[in-house]
Amino acid sequence: MRRFFRLLIVIDMKIISSVSELRHDVAEFRNQGKSIGLVPTMGALHEGHQSLVERARRECDVVIVSVFLNPTQFNNKEDLRTYPRTAERDAALLERCGVDIAFMPTVEEIYPEPDTRVFNLGPVAEVMEGAMRPGHFNGVCQIVSKLFDFTRPTRAYFGEKDFQQIAVIRAMMKQLGYDFEIVTCPCIREDDGLAKSSRNVRLTPQVRRVAPAIYRTLKASIDFAAMDHTVAQTHDWVVATINAWPEMEVEYYEIVDGITLQPVTSWDDSDYIVGCITVYCGDVREIDNITYKRPN
Ligand code: PAF
Repeated sequence: MRRFFRLLIVIDMKIISSVSELRHDVAEFRNQGKSIGLVPTMGALHEGHQSLVERARRECDVVIVSVFLNPTQFNNKEDLRTYPRTAERDAALLERCGVDIAFMPTVEEIYPEPDTRVFNLGPVAEVMEGAMRPGHFNGVCQIVSKLFDFTRPTRAYFGEKDFQQIAVIRAMMKQLGYDFEIVTCPCIREDDGLAKSSRNVRLTPQVRRVAPAIYRTLKASIDFAAMDHTVAQTHDWVVATINAWPEMEVEYYEIVDGITLQPVTSWDDSDYIVGCITVYCGDVREIDNITYKRPN
């Protein structure tokens, strides 16, 4: 019924920048027994975010989307400086998607005091992005735990493109005792297979033309592996195939257990095996992943 009315009239979305106002509204929703879906984002929204919001809209009474470019998760100042900022466009998109609250705070509102919390999440946070971007996951946990506390969601939605981030957030939730549901949604891709990412707008036209080779190669590596190639051979083939493009350079490719994120050495090591890659496309860092084995 609510959905029907949404089609007839655009229900006003509330844009909130204050934590106390957000907490107040959340308390009211909870008193009314409403389920709350949280979609955390850093803005520069694209169809990948939209798919998370649409899923939350289908599953929850109230949808809250946070749009906050979290400085504490950027270990590279230049990446933060050049990260696209499209607040007005983001708000318009969220309103069209029927979001109830867009939470768009300032840095001072979120961090009135520096956040000195240090999360120790063990091996899951130490490999791959954790090793390449020191402090990154600590910053992610700082902001995500704050957002969880402000919104007390029934479900929170994350995209599978950031495969390791999901594992890290699950580990954080276990440590801190959050017991609500995390919903993960498939990576959304351009027609040519490139994973949608806010950073894609920074690709030069020439690099943009070759970047789809990342996912093409990852997909082809499933057949390569099936032709009796070992994990190490598959790894080396992926790296060599992508590095053959002068415009791209693999930072890491790891074939890992899908839960612990620790490297596997044999296809029999686990019944859930995922390949996680980071590639420098010019000076833009793109990440992607592919599933080789998934438990039924
Ligand atoms: O995935 C992202 O966009 C960010 O890491 C997140 C989860 C919104 C935290 O800032």
